[in-house]
Amino acid sequence: MKTAIYTSYGSPEVIQIVDQEKPLPKPNEVLVRIKASSATRADTMMRAGIPKFGRLFLGFFKPKNTFLGTGFSGVIESVGTEVTQFKLGDEIFGEKLFSNGTNAEFLCIAENSIIAFKPNNLSHQEAAPVCDGFLTSYNFLKDIVNIQQGQHILINGASGSLGTAAVQIAKLMGATVTSVCSTKNIELVKSLGADFVIDYKNNDFTKNTNTYDVIYDSVGKTNYSKSKNALKPSGVFITPVLSLNILWYSMSNPKRVKFAATGLKKTEELKRLFLELVDFFKQKKLNTVIDKTYNLSEIIEAHHYLETGRKVGNIVIINQ
Ligand SMILES: NC(=O)c1ccc[n+]([C@@H]2O[C@H](COP(=O)([O-])OP(=O)(O)OC[C@H]3O[C@@H](n4cnc5c(N)ncnc54)[C@H](OP(=O)(O)O)[C@@H]3O)[C@@H](O)[C@H]2O)c1
Repeated sequence: MKTAIYTSYGSPEVIQIVDQEKPLPKPNEVLVRIKASSATRADTMMRAGIPKFGRLFLGFFKPKNTFLGTGFSGVIESVGTEVTQFKLGDEIFGEKLFSNGTNAEFLCIAENSIIAFKPNNLSHQEAAPVCDGFLTSYNFLKDIVNIQQGQHILINGASGSLGTAAVQIAKLMGATVTSVCSTKNIELVKSLGADFVIDYKNNDFTKNTNTYDVIYDSVGKTNYSKSKNALKPSGVFITPVLSLNILWYSMSNPKRVKFAATGLKKTEELKRLFLELVDFFKQKKLNTVIDKTYNLSEIIEAHHYLETGRKVGNIVIINQ
């Protein structure tokens, strides 16, 4: 089977597509023929080994894990002897944490990990990236700040993978949503449910007089120091992007500034959030925004595009 690997840190050109033996499922695993997988900003950072302190976990001189890709959607091709919940032919989707080999033709994954039956109303392409933007943003909005009906949230970077998910989730949770994006993405962000849109090209939300219960900087393009005047007295600043500013304030003022790496959360807790999201998708309350799709053989090109920082929603890798 074909799989994407990288054996050293660096530019997208370190990625190779290699032929490997098709894996055999362990007793508690299912073997999935992958139809679509995600390619994310987090994947590009792990591939590049940036920020460098991340190498303390990823491998100091070279990556310990050489596989790429976290999210996937596909069809079960065989099951281990102890598997009880899934069978041959089931369509499933989910994630194998920490870029663990979903940019490939096949994947073995334990039945109790973050997987679920793919809703019929979702295509494999729409399902594959759900655990990037939706799962991360749902963790922030539900478990970290628990947005309440009537609260006002500002989402910075509303056109990214995390941002397009956050706008929809915040509306579902009953919040009033102000989205920050560039001129070309205003109509998209409105179509996702934003009540108000600020075009960052000609309006800096940190200099306005409006204040918010929550500021979610989903792309790490601002920080707490710059944004604090836009927070209500009890307001909270949340972000999935770590910087020195966020590290300092999340430690010195943890009630007001919160960072989290979703992948470090316990699998059972992520699975609970994931299954709630699956229900929302079944009820057609959420939609995956897809910018571009690439074939597995074009994954280097996909990583170059991811690194522009300009993608709208998600990038999906498809297996023909
Ligand atoms: N902590 C975690 O658990 C976790 C999990 C997943 C991802 N992440 C991180 O989350 C971040 C966001 O990822 P992503 O995939 O959603 O998006 P992304 O690819 O990093 O950002 C793309 C979007 O940002 C917009 N943008 C660029 N500059 C902006 C600015 N100054 N203000 C507002 N928007 C701007 C772009 O639109 P325009 O160019 O049109 O403005 C584009 O639509 C990444 O750094 C990723 O590594 C963290």
